[in-house]
Amino acid sequence: MADRPRVVVARTLPRAGLDLLEERFEVDTGDLRVDMDELRRRVAGAAALVADPTVPVDGPLLDAAGPSLRIVANFAVGYDNIDLEAFRERGVTFTNTPDVLTNATAELALALMMAAARRLGEAERMLRAGDWRGWDPDQLLGRELSECRIGIVGLGRIGERLAELLSGFGAQLGYWSRTRRPDAEERLGLEYLELDDLLGRSDVVTLHVALTDETRHMIDAASLKRFKPGAILVNAARGGLVDSAALAQALREGRLAAVGLDVFENEPKVPQELLELENAVLVPHIGSATATARNAMAELAARNVVAVLSGEQPLTPVVRGTR
Ligand code: NAP
Ligand code: GLV
Repeated sequence: MADRPRVVVARTLPRAGLDLLEERFEVDTGDLRVDMDELRRRVAGAAALVADPTVPVDGPLLDAAGPSLRIVANFAVGYDNIDLEAFRERGVTFTNTPDVLTNATAELALALMMAAARRLGEAERMLRAGDWRGWDPDQLLGRELSECRIGIVGLGRIGERLAELLSGFGAQLGYWSRTRRPDAEERLGLEYLELDDLLGRSDVVTLHVALTDETRHMIDAASLKRFKPGAILVNAARGGLVDSAALAQALREGRLAAVGLDVFENEPKVPQELLELENAVLVPHIGSATATARNAMAELAARNVVAVLSGEQPLTPVVRGTR
């Protein structure tokens, strides 16, 4: 049917979302490459665009779509790839996928924390290289999370879920967040500390804030100097929160014992100096990579498109449009 609204999926979307869209709209699906010139051509005249964290959406892209564009649905909860002001100026709705990936991402942060604390990457590489000579009482000694003081930076949905998971470990839990959360402090036994105090007193620091102009490089050479000697850093939020050159330097000097990273400053590039470090556990942005989370994200992104193009309110708006 030629007169059905056109929905452009910038890259790809799991079937759980595509099925919902294809039942109702003409769907133009891309592939895993991000070619912005091509995307600007594809969006012309579209009613909706499905983006993801690898797709920058700004004023020129919205203008390339033209006045037909009513919604951009991000297939992700984070939206540092989005120029929100451009949406407000043009009255276009913008939605994300909160909640449905919270548990998956918190579990991945926990996995990174344990892998870094127990040196799992290093241990597996040694074994696979054929260098294991048998059980050795002094080999690959790590840290037990139960004996650590763990500092959560950013007590949003994922930070709070991680605190819930960690509360079973018997670790001491502290946090810093822009908005203090007395409810969570009481429920989970969390101690609120100013950021510098948290960095200086934690054995493990884990980042869960959004990437914004204010939080970019919040962990830099100066803040890394405040970390407790031998601390572990985990980042499953956004690579831009950490100055990776300063981080590599702190790891090389042994000021940090280990790091667990799911995200990087210029994905998919991973700094060579991190790749060379035994004490860096590095995984390729898989925080929400479970079938449960990815299907639910795809479905939620699609339901937002269906709602707006049906004249209803979006389910999870970040910007409510006027078109
Ligand atoms: P959320 O519930 O919105 O929590 C965001 C946290 O960031 C809140 O603590 C918020 O503080 C804080 N924040 C936002 N802007 C800030 C600023 N300018 N200065 C200081 N703090 C600020 O989001 P979420 O669902 O937990 O997700 C958190 C982040 O995780 C996402 O933004 C995304 O980048 C990342 N993520 C990564 C993966 C992955 O695959 N690795 C998966 C999902 C999410 P307030 O409470 O004061 O607003
Ligand atoms: C993934 O990184 C997300 O923000 O959902």
